[in-house]
Amino acid sequence: MRADEIRTELEAWAEVAVRRLGETSDAKSLEAWRVEHLGKRSGLSQFMRQLSALPADERPLVGAWVNRWRDELQARYEARRAELAAAERQVQLERETIDITLPGRPYRRGAMHPLSKVIAEIEEVFLGMGFEIAEGPEVETEHYNFEMLNIPKDHPARDMQDTFYITEDLLLRTHTSPMQVRTMERMRPRTPVKVIVPGRVYRRDEDDATHSHAFTQMEGLVVDEGIRMSDLKGTLEAFAKAVFGPNQRVRLRPSFFPFTEPSAEVDLVCIHCGGNGCRVCKETGWIEILGAGMVHPRVLDGAGYDSRRYSGFAFGLGVERIAMLKYGIDDIRQLYLNDLRLLRQFARVQ
Ligand code: PHE
Repeated sequence: MRADEIRTELEAWAEVAVRRLGETSDAKSLEAWRVEHLGKRSGLSQFMRQLSALPADERPLVGAWVNRWRDELQARYEARRAELAAAERQVQLERETIDITLPGRPYRRGAMHPLSKVIAEIEEVFLGMGFEIAEGPEVETEHYNFEMLNIPKDHPARDMQDTFYITEDLLLRTHTSPMQVRTMERMRPRTPVKVIVPGRVYRRDEDDATHSHAFTQMEGLVVDEGIRMSDLKGTLEAFAKAVFGPNQRVRLRPSFFPFTEPSAEVDLVCIHCGGNGCRVCKETGWIEILGAGMVHPRVLDGAGYDSRRYSGFAFGLGVERIAMLKYGIDDIRQLYLNDLRLLRQFARVQ
């Protein structure tokens, strides 16, 4: 073949090659095109092979044409590859588009249980007055639950707080007061002792709107030299104002506990009627929230604080009582039923 014939063929071949490059539509067809047109066995290589049949003076010329087309096709191939990749990316982007106008799926927000809220709030108040927080065992020894609190075996006061026994000497604590003794034993001889102890307690009670066989108390204990009943009243009054508002007052009524002397029941002004008398306070204007008193000398001495030198006060408040008053819950069982209709109301006001 002559050089000009090769040239015509080469040009016709290249024209087809360019057209077919334009017809490639993805990475796979592009690769097939490359093998066919630029690969070792491609049409281009065949033109190269024909060079040897030409006269020596025509070879460089034809070789240059073939090389020009190789470069040209290589460049077009690169351009096409970039074009196809961009198109592919575009398709993928469109496929992955997120429709942000769809309404979301909301997660419900959890909330603190009203009892936990009240405990946290009361703790905050007493922390502010310099108290520390302690916790004690719910399975308690008869020794701490009764004996060290001046409630001897066979004393009728034990009947007031009958409970669930595990063995002769182990029981579910009937109150948080055993922590008075445990705390003093842990702290002695340091003063002041200023501690509050929230926790679950148990009694053999019939469950009804105001009683539960398991409930929550918050024990308070202060021991130092010169602690007086007025300190007890002042502390409780500060607590009542902090939790129920500045107009709150407390009233102490004489009472009896074996581990305090003197002892008192402590009332708040009725939250519902402000003291005028209503159904909630049984027309008295007052609502009982806790038992308290001056720590009995026997309890102090037993726990290692010499009662001739030290005195103290203690109180035990009913946390459910406070929660019910604060949130207008009229049945203590509501606090244990785990009814979401009750609990969700606290999610909003959190
Ligand atoms: N522990 C007593 C009760 O559960 C309450 C109390 C505590 C009374 C501390 C006086 C002092 O009834």
